[in-house]
Amino acid sequence: MHTIALVSQKGGSGKSTLAIGLAVAAMQHGHKVCVLEADPQGTVSSWARRRAHAEPVVEPVSADALDYKVPFLDRCGVTLAIIDTAGGHSADTEAAIRVADLCLIPSRPSPADIEATAPTLAAIRANDKPFAFVLNQTPVRSTRVNNAAAALSEDATSLNNLGVLALPYIALRNDQQDALGAGLAVTEYALEGKSADEIRNLWQWVWRKLTVTVPVQDHVFPANQQTELRAAI
Ligand SMILES: Nc1ncnc2c1ncn2[C@@H]1O[C@H](COP(=O)(O)OP(=O)(O)OP(=O)(O)O)[C@@H](O)[C@H]1O
Ligand SMILES: [Mg+2]
Repeated sequence: MHTIALVSQKGGSGKSTLAIGLAVAAMQHGHKVCVLEADPQGTVSSWARRRAHAEPVVEPVSADALDYKVPFLDRCGVTLAIIDTAGGHSADTEAAIRVADLCLIPSRPSPADIEATAPTLAAIRANDKPFAFVLNQTPVRSTRVNNAAAALSEDATSLNNLGVLALPYIALRNDQQDALGAGLAVTEYALEGKSADEIRNLWQWVWRKLTVTVPVQDHVFPANQQTELRAAI
């Protein structure tokens, strides 16, 4: 079983949206998926209540329970556990990082948002865990934002080369929000749409990251990480 944690102390960066998107994309790829919800806010549980399908299974979980819950799911035949965590930094986030094989850090593509990932990144590095940034809610329209997005993708190449920038970026689109409101993931709600394509491709990127053996330096970020990040984004 593989375990992914969505972590970012910044609220509203897209942890729950991506946890749901990736969970369903993985299911559609043949996985048996459980979403562990380590966030008392209960975004994913509320989504599951609106949902007509039983899967993916969503289970609220406390920090204490994560240590035994993850091996238990493995024994039950679950092939992918996705942990959604709360904003801020808590014992739940620490525990999620500790049990994860890969930490995904969603962030909006702005300097302030990237800067706010510093404590999360420090906790991930303290636990020596592989990680990747997922740029979420990237702009799709207006000359000004398109220019920004173009600059972002160019400058972000170095991060990509380090294997710590997940691709593709996930754009800000209504169908991401509408899908969740309907108790669906975007790959169920608008399966031919651009958002669905992005999420499917993001899942493929994550799957490769989980399964393809990579050199150690692939996930070791340089010491001046935050400076580089600010410069890149
Ligand atoms: N790619 C996207 N396009 C459009 N809306 C998005 C996208 N990603 C997230 N959102 C919206 O942004 C808001 C915050 O997203 P989400 O709840 O996933 O963030 P979060 O990191 O889980 O927040 P919290 O820290 O409060 O748990 C939600 O209204 C969600 O629908
Ligand atoms: Mg959330």
